[in-house]
Amino acid sequence: MTANSESRKILMTIALPYANGPIHMGHLVEAIQADIWARFQKMQGHEVHFFCADDTHGTPIMINAREKKTTPEKLIAEVWKDHTETYKGYQIGFTHYSSTNSKANQEMCELFYDSMKKKNALSRKSIEQLYCDFDKMFLPDRFVKGTCPKCGALDQYGDTCDVCSATYSPSDMKNAGCSLCGSKPIKKHSEHVFFELEPHREFLKEFLESSTSTEVKKKMLEWFDGELRPWDITRDGPYFGFPIPGEKDKFFYVWVDAPMGYISSSKEYFDSIGKNYLSYWKDKSTEIYHFIGKDITYFHTLFWPALLKTADFQTPKAVFVHGRLMINGEKMSKSKGNFVAASTYLKHLQADYLRYYYATKLNDSLDDFDLSFDDFMNRVNSELVGKITNLASRGAQMLGKKNNNQMTTLDSKGLQLVKKAQNAGSEIKKNFENREFSKVMGEIRSLAEEANRYFDELAPWKTVETDPSSTFQVLTSTLNLFRILAIYLKPVMPEYSEKVEKLFNEKSYTWNDSLKILENHNLNEFTALITRIEKEKIELIMKETLTLNEIIQKEKSASSTAAPVAAAKDTSVIEIDDFLKIDLRVAEILKAEAIPEAEKLLRLQVSLGPLGERQIIAGIKSAYDPASLVGRKVIVVANLKPRKMKFGMSEGMVLAAGAGAPDLFVLSPDPGAKAGDPVK
Ligand code: 2FM
Ligand code: ZN
Repeated sequence: MTANSESRKILMTIALPYANGPIHMGHLVEAIQADIWARFQKMQGHEVHFFCADDTHGTPIMINAREKKTTPEKLIAEVWKDHTETYKGYQIGFTHYSSTNSKANQEMCELFYDSMKKKNALSRKSIEQLYCDFDKMFLPDRFVKGTCPKCGALDQYGDTCDVCSATYSPSDMKNAGCSLCGSKPIKKHSEHVFFELEPHREFLKEFLESSTSTEVKKKMLEWFDGELRPWDITRDGPYFGFPIPGEKDKFFYVWVDAPMGYISSSKEYFDSIGKNYLSYWKDKSTEIYHFIGKDITYFHTLFWPALLKTADFQTPKAVFVHGRLMINGEKMSKSKGNFVAASTYLKHLQADYLRYYYATKLNDSLDDFDLSFDDFMNRVNSELVGKITNLASRGAQMLGKKNNNQMTTLDSKGLQLVKKAQNAGSEIKKNFENREFSKVMGEIRSLAEEANRYFDELAPWKTVETDPSSTFQVLTSTLNLFRILAIYLKPVMPEYSEKVEKLFNEKSYTWNDSLKILENHNLNEFTALITRIEKEKIELIMKETLTLNEIIQKEKSASSTAAPVAAAKDTSVIEIDDFLKIDLRVAEILKAEAIPEAEKLLRLQVSLGPLGERQIIAGIKSAYDPASLVGRKVIVVANLKPRKMKFGMSEGMVLAAGAGAPDLFVLSPDPGAKAGDPVK
């Protein structure tokens, strides 16, 4: 890496993605944002190191591996391969990408733990937590399900209610059950180790002041109203993580070893090139930057700087926080079918399009932003293809045909515009530095618009035969304008810029190449730099996403239906009260229709007499002709929580006997029963 005399030493990271799922479009917001910034800094001649790793530890990964009948180590190795290939597909140029389940990371945790002990930064306390006696493990909040203590919604996680958004602790819940086996957890005491945060109060306030934006600071200062509570850094076994030295069956909490991954990933790299990682992490001249999403600000602006300080490591110069990604105006979720995997997109479209689009949206704020696929397609087609790239094709094709790919000199109006584009460079540079990429893209777009106006006004296609010499000047000016814009766009679209370098017969643009003017220069043969996005490609991405999301949902419900079976080992009989909770009713089928897109489903409209009408989506298509069901009385579970399905709400369940499709037999009462009658 070349570095100039005022070269800065930059060490940057993005949040480590969990190793229990694929990279999705949300991860890419941060990866692309950081990668653009890294490439911009490299173009300035700075020394840039960009690190990441997979975040591999914790209960969910352990359970996931168990469900997939594999080991956590095998699972994380497969995921690592998938993650690194995906990031590569988006041209995320990490210096090194590691895993938190590494020797270097374990040693780092132990080193930090040792400092904490030496500095008297730890305390111990016995705490009471929910414990599953069947699974023989303490249950993290997400592994407890029960009734929301606030609104009474059934089947909610142990930390937040999806229905009313209340937050609580699992022990506040009614009917709390282990999400793995369904049995009732017991309360059990265990001694944990805590990292004391309060002694760092003043330091942390100063840290927030110097290293975060006003918006982040404002949000975080609320934590300082009360005492900064000690942080529990222990988890009891079984747990997939690093054992805590000197403790029995206790492990470092995943959030302790995850950020250590920033350092250990860099250590692996610096070791490999014979450099001491401490000459970065303990040297004040290193600028350390963490790019993160707003959900994990708390960990990065309180615990992490306090841990670094305790171990005498440099704290970050800044923590850059971005908002969440929405897809087509909605929160991304598998149940909504809009959870777009990064690899699905890549099967159909190249990364540069997305990098361009994200850059038009990114700035230094916490605001959420939307990936609307229509807007994405329109903007890429009209701006990147129609305005920017059009300059190259218009200029180079004609020059190729009519002047043997030979650029000439600039005309005076062209020169004026080129100077203007060059002068805009300092503002564009400032906006890149401040991560105001949407402003950068706005400036580039308006320069492109001006260049297109110039081209249209001088209409070289009209003058090429009559006045070739001034026509070639217009083409030369247009191409110079395009080249400058392509240099400004290099951090955003590295692949595209490589093609531009090839077109102009040049190598590896740096920022100052924008100050050069090309005259009497030979072009390479023009080949298309980028083509328009076709709507069919977007449709394919959405369709595949939907299918993939459905498969994931099915797998999820298959694994959650395993729960009652496991529970049966423990509690094979139920109390009469349990049975009485189920509200079984007679229902009359008023309407029945097949759902064409669904292999197994019928849409039923049923009457529950005085309880009104309901829509039920029932998986009985393979056994019944819809017409034969109309007028029939059946038995339904009337108090089942309504479920939002892809084809609408399902507000109950029709009972049927049999081994499963096509052996399905809907239950009906004897004649005389009326719609709405309770079944007891
Ligand atoms: O929130 C997450 O996805 C975590 N895996 C981020 C970890 S970032 C860091 F601290 F390592
Ligand atoms: Zn259990």
